[in-house]
Amino acid sequence: FQAFYRAMDLKPPSGEPNFVGKKDELIKAKRSFRTLEGRDILIIYHEGVLYAMDSYCYHAGGKLELGDIEEFDGKLCIVCPNHKYKISLAKGECIYKASNPREKPPVPRWYSKGVKQRTHTVTETDGDVFVTLSTETRFIESDYFQGEKGKVERAKA
Ligand code: FES
Repeated sequence: FQAFYRAMDLKPPSGEPNFVGKKDELIKAKRSFRTLEGRDILIIYHEGVLYAMDSYCYHAGGKLELGDIEEFDGKLCIVCPNHKYKISLAKGECIYKASNPREKPPVPRWYSKGVKQRTHTVTETDGDVFVTLSTETRFIESDYFQGEKGKVERAKA
């Protein structure tokens, strides 16, 4: 567990909830940026639900806070402003539409690249909102842009 974070040049998450603000403020702001335990997190309020995810797009470090939110294939996604990758708010799954040119006629369908963006758990107690960072030890692509190495690249994104 610790070795994974060392290799990724990241601070291991505490597994404890971090206070991120009052629910009313987060609703009003719609998008809020917080640095929690050394990790840059985007908190999104959309249609009655608060979500939290790594704030830099897993593809090339784009700023997801500037992305539009749209529904694709029944999933609410943030669309990265840089190259328009669609990342689900709930799971951090990247989805894309493609058609098989061998199919006659080709029919565009939705496909998943799997979970690429790390999402975090949002909880609320008496109007206070907390984010507990994901303790999933599997490498998730957005981890790269949270470490020292990724900082240089994300600055160019
Ligand atoms: Fe987000 Fe490329 S940086 S789609």
